[in-house]
Amino acid sequence: MNIEQKLQKAIYLSLPEQLSQLMSADDILVEKPKLNNFGDLSSSIAMNKHHLVSEDFQNPEELAKIIADNFNQQNQDIEARVAKPAFINFYLSDAVFWEIFNNLPNNPPNNLPKNEANYLSTERPSQKVIVEYSSPNIAKPFGIGHLRSTIIGDAVANLYEAVGYEVFRDNHLGDWGTQFGKQIVAIKKWGNEEAIAKSDNPVAELVKLYVKFHQEAEEDESLNDEARLWFKKLEAGDSEARRLWQACINWSLVEFNKIYQRLGVKFTENNGQGFSEAYFEKDLQQLIAELSEQEFVRAGENGAKLIFFPDDQYPPLMIEKADGATLYATRDLAADKWRLSQVRYRGENNEAPVIINEVGSEQSLYFQQLFKAEEMLGWYKAGERIHLKHGLYRFADGKMSTRKGQSIWLNEVLDKAQAKAEELSGDPETAKVLSIAALKWNDLKRNSQLHITFDWAEVLNLQGNSGPYMLYAYARAKSILRKAEEQGIELKRELSIDHQSHPDLNLETLEKELIQQLANFQKIIKQAQQELNPALLCNYLYTLASQFGSFYNKYQILQDSSGELALLRRDFRLKLVEELALVIKKGLNILGIDTLERL
Ligand code: ARG
Repeated sequence: MNIEQKLQKAIYLSLPEQLSQLMSADDILVEKPKLNNFGDLSSSIAMNKHHLVSEDFQNPEELAKIIADNFNQQNQDIEARVAKPAFINFYLSDAVFWEIFNNLPNNPPNNLPKNEANYLSTERPSQKVIVEYSSPNIAKPFGIGHLRSTIIGDAVANLYEAVGYEVFRDNHLGDWGTQFGKQIVAIKKWGNEEAIAKSDNPVAELVKLYVKFHQEAEEDESLNDEARLWFKKLEAGDSEARRLWQACINWSLVEFNKIYQRLGVKFTENNGQGFSEAYFEKDLQQLIAELSEQEFVRAGENGAKLIFFPDDQYPPLMIEKADGATLYATRDLAADKWRLSQVRYRGENNEAPVIINEVGSEQSLYFQQLFKAEEMLGWYKAGERIHLKHGLYRFADGKMSTRKGQSIWLNEVLDKAQAKAEELSGDPETAKVLSIAALKWNDLKRNSQLHITFDWAEVLNLQGNSGPYMLYAYARAKSILRKAEEQGIELKRELSIDHQSHPDLNLETLEKELIQQLANFQKIIKQAQQELNPALLCNYLYTLASQFGSFYNKYQILQDSSGELALLRRDFRLKLVEELALVIKKGLNILGIDTLERL
């Protein structure tokens, strides 16, 4: 039981009977107050629950006083004080803080078997999770939106793993659709396959050809017919069509894999490549036949097939065009149906997996339609399909991501980030880690649904809430630990301090704050996972790093110590630093960020 839970219980036992009958200990919220002079923990229970017992207690403040009085009679190590309007603030004695300290480390938590150090929890939920992220389109630039999806999706997958879920990481590459007919025509008419293959950026060549196709087709309608023909051939398995289509995939993957490698992001499905749209092509005809038997699937005016929603809750979702062509939606439906059929995705009690699609918020309506359709089909229950949305990304100079011909090439963005980081650090290897940390942190540190304006100065800032700041905090902690070792001081990770034997070892406010913050690590991980919100973990880590900064500036950790008390204090502070370094490292790793031992 952590301190919040203990306090919850103790508060519950202090409630007047009229109130305790109406609620349970879990309904009591205790939080760390934003301001320090409001105690170490605080509860607004008297304000929140007074309405339930307003006949017996005049106002919330009166209720708060009674709870605080009862509490103080029953508890020695924690003092309750009422503050206006009716908060109950709790002041923990040093003895309580020592107890919390003694229960660290929590990274890995000390109740885990040694071989499971990657997890942060002993829970092993039976339901499995598929996180699908990145999902760029073949022969198109890897967009800034795909970058956001890659970074956020990876972090969310890591969060699920940290709390004990089995996670499958998938990449739903866009490699199917009528556009490949046009791409093939363009390559055959104006392209040079050898030159494309040799180019530094084959996707850029494909995009040029695609743009040219559209320009030419404005003059010459027959090009569109030709494109349709080639897509038909592709669908029919024509070997030349397949060869060119596969070449587009291979060229694109060179570019995409470079990005994944730089970001250190991996997928587990289909040998690390992910199950792309085309993977489900073989299932589409049978799927359409099956869907057509549903009464909510009907032909539209022009003969296209659509899914209609009850009360027209959403616009109908097209699953087959009038000419028989399939759509993005058809392939998503096929993918999700196939996922249901895979035993390894099933939970221990045969539950369907939870599927999380990390995709930009511009596809919100589409995913609502898709999920509703899958619910109507009886495939997935509410909560098993999740659209994790991210906002748009704008550059500070006003340019948006891709528009015709004027693409932003992500590898160039990454090069630029690295060059900037190299100006700061002077070393290419350091700059690599630093720049990726900067980019990822910038994406993860705020609620992902917000639109971001991209600003280099903010991304690479060393002082503020930035990736480099976090890496510096970690490296500083490690340098203290190295110095200690150089001085022959043994680090005591299992150090436990008995307050009764050392009543004179008093705790400074900054130390108490660090202890309290460190003890919350697992709780934050759990919360960030439940809310699918890596920003909560960023906030937590940033607070921890800032607290460490103040602590480091104010106190000598490795002062010349003599005397038992001074030595004990030194060992205590070293364990705090060690635990903090481990928590920052583990936390950053969960966010997909590597650390540096020195900076
Ligand atoms: N390829 C799509 C795009 O770039 C994203 C795919 C998202 N995933 C999905 N299952 N629909 O817009």
